[in-house]
Amino acid sequence: MRLSGVDPGIIRELSGIYKPFIKAFKELISNAYDADATTITVKVAEDCESIEVHDDGIGMTPYHFESDFARLGGSTAWLQGGRSPGGRPRIGHKGIGFLAVARYCSELHVTSHATRSYEGTRLVQRRGRKAIPLEEIFGDVVPLEHLAGRIKVFKSEALDGARSVQLKKPIDFMLDGTEVRLASPRSQSRELRFSYVLDCSHLLFDAMLDFDYLLGLEHREDLRTLDNFCKVKVRLVTPRDRPVGGTLEPFTTVRLKKLKDFVVRELTAPPVKGKQKSIVFRSGREQFLWRVARSSPIRDDVPNEVEADAIKALEHASGYIRRELVERLQLRRVPELHFTLDLSQEHVERIERLLKEMKKDKPSAP
Ligand SMILES: Nc1ncnc2c1ncn2[C@@H]1O[C@H](COP(=O)(O)OP(=O)(O)OP(=O)(O)O)[C@@H](O)[C@H]1O
Ligand SMILES: [Mg+2]
Repeated sequence: MRLSGVDPGIIRELSGIYKPFIKAFKELISNAYDADATTITVKVAEDCESIEVHDDGIGMTPYHFESDFARLGGSTAWLQGGRSPGGRPRIGHKGIGFLAVARYCSELHVTSHATRSYEGTRLVQRRGRKAIPLEEIFGDVVPLEHLAGRIKVFKSEALDGARSVQLKKPIDFMLDGTEVRLASPRSQSRELRFSYVLDCSHLLFDAMLDFDYLLGLEHREDLRTLDNFCKVKVRLVTPRDRPVGGTLEPFTTVRLKKLKDFVVRELTAPPVKGKQKSIVFRSGREQFLWRVARSSPIRDDVPNEVEADAIKALEHASGYIRRELVERLQLRRVPELHFTLDLSQEHVERIERLLKEMKKDKPSAP
C-alpha cells in the first residue's frame, strides 16, 4: 500500500502533534464515534504491552481502509457536510488520525468488516489497449477471485479532451473475468472513466501499519519504499466469525501493539500507597482508563468571538474565582490568575499548514 509523494519529515512532524499519549489515544475513540459506534470497548493487556479498541460502528471495507484510513488527508468528513452517516456532527475532519498513535507503538493492527458497499471512480489511460485489467481499475487490495459477481460498473465514459461519451454494456464494453473488454470503436478513446460499486459484505480484513518503519524514513528518496508500510490481508467471512444463528455485524478493532517503553512504564506505574482518594495516586492503568472514560467526543470548534467573550467574562470574575480558590484549596497566598486561549486552534492551523505543504509536494493521483 502506498503513501506516495509525502515527505517523511512531514509525516514525522504530523505524528508529533499528538501529545500526551492519552490525547493521541482519544483520536481512536473519536474515529469510532464518527463511525456511529454505540459501544466502544477499550482493553489494556495484562502486561500493558498492547491496547485494543473495539467499536460497533459502520466498519470499513478494505477499499475504505485503503482510501480513507491508510492515506494522509483521506478524511471522509466532507462527504456528508461534516456529519457521520448516522447524522452525528463529526469530530475528525483532517484525515491524519492514524498517525496520532504512531509515536506510541511500533505497530497498529486494524481488523474490520462492513456491510456497506464501496463506491469508486477511476480514470484510466487507454494507451492503445483493447482491454483494461480489472486491477488497474479497482486496485489490488482485494484479490479478484473475491470480487466475482460483486462488481457493478454503473457508469463508464470514453473521454477525448473535453468530449465525453457514455458507454453502454455490452455494446461498448464488458467485464470478462480479469479485464474490461472494450468492444466498440466508441470505447477506443484516449481515456476512460469508470464509476463502480463493490460489494464487500462477505469480506473481512486484517491490516498492519508499521510505524517504526514509517517514522524511521530519513530521506525523500526513501519514498519509493513506502509501498511496504502497510500490509492488508483480506479474507472471506467464515461461519466461525458469525455469532451462532446470526450474521456478522459491522465492526472495527484497532490494536496498538508493541507499545513503547515509556508508555508501558506509564501504564504499569503502581498506585501511591495510602493515598487513594484522588485519581492521580491510582495505578497508571487506572489513570489511563479513567481518562479514556472521561474523553467526551465533542468537537471544540468555538468561534473566535465566543472565545474572546469567554476570556473577558473570566477576567471579570477573577476576584470571585481567586477568593474561592483561596478558601477551597486553603491557600495562604492569593494566586494571580491569567486566562489564555487553549492552543488547540493553533494546533489545527499547524496541521492544516502541513497538510497543504503535503498536497503541494504530492504528484497527481494515478
Ligand atoms: N473506527 C473506524 N470505523 C470506521 N471508519 C473509520 C474508523 N477509523 C477511521 N475510519 C475512517 O478512516 C478515515 C480517516 O480517519 P482519520 O482519523 O485519519 O481521519 P478523520 O477522523 O476523518 O480526521 P482527523 O484526522 O481529524 O481525525 C475516517 O474519515 C473514516 O472514514
Ligand atoms: Mg480521526
